Amino acid sequence: MGKTIIISNRLPVQLQISNGTITAIPSVGGLATGMKSVHSSGDSLWIGWSGLTEEDIVPELEPKIDEALAAHGSSKVKLTEKEVDGFYYGFSNRTIWPLFHYFLEYSEFQLDYWNTYKKVNQKFADAILAKAEDGDTIWVHDYQLMLVPQMVRKERPNVSIGFFLHIPFPSFEIFRTLPWREELLEGVLGSDLIGFHTYDYERHFLSSVRRLLGLEVSFNDISMGDRLIKVDSFPMGIDYKKFSDAAKIHYNRAEDEQSELQQRLNAHKKTDPEAKFFLSIDRLDYSKGIAKRLNAFEYFLNKYPQYKEKVRLIILAVPSRSNVPQYQLLKREIDELVGRINGEFSTVSWTPIWYFYRSMPFENLIDLYTSSDIAWLTPLRDGMNLVAKEYIATRTDKTGVLILSEMAGSANEMNESLLVNPNNFEQTADALHEAINMPVEEQKARNSILQKRLARYNVEKWANDFMTSLKSQKERDAANVSR
Ligand code: ADP
Ligand code: G6P
Repeated sequence: MGKTIIISNRLPVQLQISNGTITAIPSVGGLATGMKSVHSSGDSLWIGWSGLTEEDIVPELEPKIDEALAAHGSSKVKLTEKEVDGFYYGFSNRTIWPLFHYFLEYSEFQLDYWNTYKKVNQKFADAILAKAEDGDTIWVHDYQLMLVPQMVRKERPNVSIGFFLHIPFPSFEIFRTLPWREELLEGVLGSDLIGFHTYDYERHFLSSVRRLLGLEVSFNDISMGDRLIKVDSFPMGIDYKKFSDAAKIHYNRAEDEQSELQQRLNAHKKTDPEAKFFLSIDRLDYSKGIAKRLNAFEYFLNKYPQYKEKVRLIILAVPSRSNVPQYQLLKREIDELVGRINGEFSTVSWTPIWYFYRSMPFENLIDLYTSSDIAWLTPLRDGMNLVAKEYIATRTDKTGVLILSEMAGSANEMNESLLVNPNNFEQTADALHEAINMPVEEQKARNSILQKRLARYNVEKWANDFMTSLKSQKERDAANVSR
C-alpha cells in the first residue's frame, strides 16, 4: 500500500517569526481544523504553505522552520510575497471565493492573478511530484488548488488523486461568468474522485462540466477519453469526541480551575439566571453575514423590547484575509454597527453586544459554546459551517438552541435546528424569540437527534468514506481502461 499525501494551501499550523523565534499557531477554518483530526490519527504527509513568504525565510532559519512543520507531519511549499499576493489574496480570495459564494460583484477577473494562480498551482504540484510514487494516494483540498489534480496526473498517472472542495460550487449561471472556467474544470478533472459537501454543489459541478466541456455525464460518473471520474457528496463532520470530551471537562471544573472567561460568563449567569447569551462565531468574512446578523439583532430588540437587559450577543470574529479590501471594509462596517447598536441600547448595567475580534484558544472556544443558550449562525452562503456542529457537540446536557442559516451546507443535516433565511429579519427575530422560550424538553429532544447524527458521521468517518470511495473508483477506472 502506498502512502497518503494531503495537500492544501493552509497547513494545520501557520508559522510566525518574531525576533528570530518561530511560533506555530493553529490554523483557523474548517479545512484545517477538520483535516487536523484526520491527519493526526494517520501517517500521512501534509504539504502546504507555512504562512511565511520566501522573503521571511532566511537560510539560517530554514532548518528550524522545517523542524517546526515536521512536528505537525507537514512540509512546506515556498511562496514569494508576490506569489502570495497574486495567488492567495488575488485569484483565490478576490476571484474564486466571492464568485463561488455568489458575491459576483466582488469577484475580480484579472489576468495577472490568473497567471500567478497557475504558476503557484504548478509549485504545489511539483512539491507533490517530488514525494509521490506510483500507488500513492494524493488528496488535494479546496479552491486554491483546483489545477493541481491535472498537473499531477500528467506526470504521474499511476497515483490515485482525490479532490475535495470545501466551499460551495455555484450554479452554472454564476460559474460561467469566469473567464477561465474551462481550465478550472479541466484542472479538477485530473482527479479520480471529486467530493463536495452537498448534493447541490455536486449537481452544479456536473451541470457545468456537461455544458461547458460537453463531456458525457451519467448519474455521477464523468467520461473523459478512456477515463471514468466519479463525483459524489461527502458532508464533512467534526471530531465529535474532542468537542464533547472538552465540554465535559469544562462543566466539571472547580471555580479556581476555570478560565477567566468561564468565570465571567458564570458570574453573569448567577447575577441574572433569566439572562440569555446568543453566540455568533465566524471568521470575519462577508459570506458569513455578520453585518446582517447585527442588523437583525437590532430589529429583534425593537420588535421584542421585553428582552432588553436580558439578552447578550457575543460576537467572536476571527481576523481573516485582512489584505483584501472587502474584508477591511467589512471590519469597519461591523465596528460601526456594534458601536451604534451598543450606543443606542446600552444601559448602565447592560451592554447588548460583546464583540471580540481575535482568534481564541480551543479552551475558550469551548467556554463560549458551553455557556451560550443560543448559537446564532446565519451565513449568507457557507460551504458547510462546522461551528454549528461543534456547538451541538459541546451541549453534553443536551440543552441549547441552534439557529442556523438555510444557506449553510450543514443545514442539510441539521433539520432539527431552527432554520432561517438570514435575509428575513422578521423570521430571524421570531426564531430568537422561539429559541428563548423553547421548553428544555424540546431542546433536549432536538439535540439528542442532532448529536447522534454528528457522533456517527464524524470527521474520521467522512475521511474514511472519501478514501474508500477513491480506492474503489481507481480500481473501477483501471478495469474500465483495460476493457
Ligand atoms: P470556515 O471554514 O469558513 O472558517 P467553519 O465554521 O466550517 O468555517 O470552520 C471554522 C473553524 O474555525 C471551526 O472549526 C472553529 O472551531 C474554528 N474557529 C472559529 N472561530 C475561532 C476562533 N475565534 N478561534 C479559534 N478557532 C476558531
Ligand atoms: C475556508 C476555506 C479554507 C480556508 C479557511 C480559512 O474554510 O475553505 O480553504 O483555509 O476558510 O481561510 P484562510 O484564507 O485563512 O486559509
